[in-house]
Amino acid sequence: MPPTQNKDPDKIKEMFSNISSKYDIANAILSMGFYKNWYRRLIDKIEIKEGMKILDCATGTGNLPLLLAQNSLNISICGVDFSEEMLSISFKRMRKHNLTISFMLSDILNLPFEDNYFDIATICFGIRNVVDPIRCLKEMSRVVKPGGKVYILEFGNPRGVVKIFYEPYRQFLMPVIGRIITGDKHAYYYLAETSSQFPSGEKFIEMMESTNFFKNSNAIPIFNGVAFIYEGMVV
Ligand SMILES: C[S@@+](CC[C@H](N)C(=O)[O-])C[C@H]1O[C@@H](n2cnc3c(N)ncnc32)[C@H](O)[C@@H]1O
Repeated sequence: MPPTQNKDPDKIKEMFSNISSKYDIANAILSMGFYKNWYRRLIDKIEIKEGMKILDCATGTGNLPLLLAQNSLNISICGVDFSEEMLSISFKRMRKHNLTISFMLSDILNLPFEDNYFDIATICFGIRNVVDPIRCLKEMSRVVKPGGKVYILEFGNPRGVVKIFYEPYRQFLMPVIGRIITGDKHAYYYLAETSSQFPSGEKFIEMMESTNFFKNSNAIPIFNGVAFIYEGMVV
């Protein structure tokens, strides 16, 4: 396995830019079509109200903003990512579906927004990739109004019988299939490695709570912990 734990932002950006054109098809195949359900479960958690401003951090190819825009009227959605290649796919998808979403090129560790601007901030499969997850949470809480919510969708470490099947899949099969689909030797080893090492469940909640930026944080497991939706109210 290549040494991938060094989350050098330039290398991360380059990796996602390289796989951008195959990213969505790889997601669909590797999750066996389930990944859209996970975004829907997250959207179901958000109490969407007319006029809301929602920020999606590390938006990639715009999966969450597109689903949000297709399902909700009169909300304003902004997606931020530092990979031009990923964002250009979001933009094309938005135009294809005739939707209005603002996509911006930016580092999510330095969000270009004033304090308390958004009602909600989300990040899907992004926080695991940043060099400083606490700073990411801090930035997300800074741009959300007090009383607003931050939602995080991220891979976890499942328990019980799911673990028995999922671990060999994640560690051995997924990197091989990911390589065949995207042509990238390392990206899906990186996914296996980072997703198994990143704090999940209670550990992630402890990390959230340790920041003192959130209250009422909680974790909702998906598939016994293959992924989690975390939510916290900004104080
Ligand atoms: C696994 S993809 C997730 C994309 C999307 N949220 C989804 O659910 O499909 C991770 C994304 O995080 C972006 N990213 C990683 N670190 C970032 C940073 N510091 N600032 C902005 N984007 C970042 C990458 O460019 C990539 O598009």
